[in-house]
Amino acid sequence: MAPLQALSLLLLASLASSAASGYRSTLTHIDSKLGFTKAQLMRRAVHRSRLRAASMLPGYSTTLSSSNAGPRLRSGQAEYLMELAIGTPPVPFVALADTGSDLTWTQCQPCKLCFPQDTPVYDPTTSSSFSPVPCSSATCLSIWSRNCTPTALCRYRYGYEDGAYSAGGLGTETITFGSSAPGEAPAASAGGVAFGCGTDNGGDSYNSTGTVGLGRGSLSLVAQLGVGKFSYCLTDFFNTSLGSPVLFGSLAELAASGGAAVQSTPLVQNPQGRSWYYVSLEGISLGDALLPIPNQTFALQADGTGGMIVDSGTIFTVLVESAFRVVANHVAELLGQPAINATSLDNPCFPAPAGERQLPAMPDMVLHFAGGADMTLHRDNYMSFDEEDSSFCLNIGGTTWTSILGNFQQQNIQMLFDITVGQMSFVPTDCSKL
Ligand SMILES: *[C@@H]1O[C@H](CO)[C@@H](O)[C@H](O)[C@H]1NC(C)=O
Ligand SMILES: *[C@@H]1O[C@H](CO)[C@@H](O)[C@H](O)[C@H]1NC(C)=O
Ligand SMILES: *[C@@H]1O[C@H](CO)[C@@H](O)[C@H](O)[C@H]1NC(C)=O
Ligand SMILES: *[C@@H]1O[C@H](CO)[C@@H](O)[C@H](O)[C@H]1NC(C)=O
Repeated sequence: MAPLQALSLLLLASLASSAASGYRSTLTHIDSKLGFTKAQLMRRAVHRSRLRAASMLPGYSTTLSSSNAGPRLRSGQAEYLMELAIGTPPVPFVALADTGSDLTWTQCQPCKLCFPQDTPVYDPTTSSSFSPVPCSSATCLSIWSRNCTPTALCRYRYGYEDGAYSAGGLGTETITFGSSAPGEAPAASAGGVAFGCGTDNGGDSYNSTGTVGLGRGSLSLVAQLGVGKFSYCLTDFFNTSLGSPVLFGSLAELAASGGAAVQSTPLVQNPQGRSWYYVSLEGISLGDALLPIPNQTFALQADGTGGMIVDSGTIFTVLVESAFRVVANHVAELLGQPAINATSLDNPCFPAPAGERQLPAMPDMVLHFAGGADMTLHRDNYMSFDEEDSSFCLNIGGTTWTSILGNFQQQNIQMLFDITVGQMSFVPTDCSKL
């Protein structure tokens, strides 16, 4: 071995012993512990998908932020809870995972207003690793810049489009990933993570104790851990007994799986500076046929509309209206059904032939992303059978604003977001085995 290599290995080894280079946690779907049937899960998913899509409209957030006088509003609604712990000694922190926002916050003592939570509310005065963030610090400037005096603490107020909010002081803390439970990954901690100590919190908590921000900004947990990338792998949406792994840093790497190669496409930046992960979708195939959708249909516009966001808080993919109609009508044709209702943007359902209880064989749908990255969606990633209505449903809807790749379509595809390189990669994987 050349001396230089030996030296760099030594360096790597010493880095690894001082700070973990990878972290692992589990995402649990918010409906997973409530004993819903498949049909109920679908109804609730359709309802939340509509709320999320509406809340992401740019006009919606402008209206609210002007009345709120807080920082610009980000996404509301999330679909997955992430299990973490905060402080020393660590207390449980069950966070809504949001890839559309950056700030991580938890409910905090002394509570002016805290929503009910199952575990004790985190108290900074009993944690040896808490430090307050002064309002003159760079971290604070990225979130709140008014009324700052040299000794004042950093205050924040963060609102979400669904009406949920958190306000309090910014601090830094140690965040612990994983547990020491037998058979699980050993715990790993990261110190000095800036977070919101929320003493005034409201809105729908979905049994969380706060939010973890996984967006692209500098305050996001991904950026703060200094690992530059994370991946998640969502298990079968209808199998509520399965958790989904979320991995940071060196643990997030993708490997070719079952003969399928890792594919990559550049992340693009919205000119309006939003925190979401945008990718360039260039076309869609169904089976062997490239669908007649003009190349520029999914282009991101200078005014910030258009484009495609990859979002873990949206269940069902939505496509801009013209593309949605082409896809839906090709699916209708495959099923021997007439073209869809011309006014509705909802996920279309088609009556199943009498006595039919299962989806017929259907070809794969392929999303063609920039750079030649093809994402294959098997039938069960875009269709489902509705038992109550005896119908076959396409789990893709239409939108007038921006297309969103939702998490129903991401089941059993490991997704990697590299914010350093600016790239999204993916590979089909059995996520329950990762
Ligand atoms: C929160 O958990 C309780 C039981 O642990 C459950 O009854 C309730 O429905 C849950 N709420 C939500 C919104 O998930
Ligand atoms: C859920 O996944 C587990 C592990 O893969 C499997 O054993 C179980 O049969 C699945 N349950 C359902 C309802 O599909
Ligand atoms: C779509 O347009 C982009 C940029 O204009 C181009 O690079 C790409 O090759 C086009 N794709 C197809 C399938 O025509
Ligand atoms: C089409 O959809 C609209 C809106 O959902 C609905 O009001 C209308 O009744 C539908 N028309 C038909 C023929 O199904």
